[in-house]
Amino acid sequence: MSLNDNLQELIKISAPLWAGEAEVVRTFWDSPIRSLETDLLWLRRQCFKEFNGKGLGEHKDLGIFLGPLTEIIESFPKIDRDVSRHHVADLIETIQDEFTHYCLFADIYDAIRDENTPPLDPHALQIWDEDKYLTDMRIEQNHAHGEIGIRASHFTEGGYCTLFREGMRLKGRGGNDDLIAEACRVIYEDEFGHMLGGIVGLENEEMSAEDYALMTDLVVKQLRARIKMRNAEFSFPLSEERIEAIYNGDIEPEPFDFDKAADVMAAAH
Ligand SMILES: [Fe+2]
Ligand SMILES: [Fe+2]
Repeated sequence: MSLNDNLQELIKISAPLWAGEAEVVRTFWDSPIRSLETDLLWLRRQCFKEFNGKGLGEHKDLGIFLGPLTEIIESFPKIDRDVSRHHVADLIETIQDEFTHYCLFADIYDAIRDENTPPLDPHALQIWDEDKYLTDMRIEQNHAHGEIGIRASHFTEGGYCTLFREGMRLKGRGGNDDLIAEACRVIYEDEFGHMLGGIVGLENEEMSAEDYALMTDLVVKQLRARIKMRNAEFSFPLSEERIEAIYNGDIEPEPFDFDKAADVMAAAH
């Protein structure tokens, strides 16, 4: 399998923005702003995304849990009539993956919180401004552009797994960092596949040059918004000026693992 020129171009344009998101997380780990309090804050926010994040084109915009769950229930009488069994299997896998991610981060939260901090209550979690901006953007694009919007939202899911890749690199530091590294290692494999959900099939498919131009435009808007979403999630380790510089390309692009992508996509066919 080889990726066509349009897809290679999309990846090339995305790579500096993926690197920007990685820089947010990597900077945070060793930043003076890092404390138990800021760790608990990002864990709460990440739990929110894994528990009830929205904007991936899920059923009726109901979020990562209730969207697929509702679709499964509604699909039951239509399985292998109007709805393929493989589609339903994919929905079940989505819930399984994302709820596991929620559990992994919630378990860390409860393991590291101090006695004055109550256990994690997912229903009390709240979105933050920069994440709401990204979510609203995705929902609007998904509705305005149909399949291309949804492909773009999937392709930017996890921002090429940056949080999870940078989290894995904490391995060996001991204590809370080892807990984070282990959770991120498990999630990394799932999220690599979720990102590719946006481009599986596009290597053979006839998508017009205009379609690619539109998808690229949507992806760039989302990836830019992701950097600000992550920066706020992690208590602003990067300055506004640094983010502007990243937007302008002043960064070493994140290398894309074409071999791993080829393996995952071949398995999906
Ligand atoms: Fe996830
Ligand atoms: Fe995911």
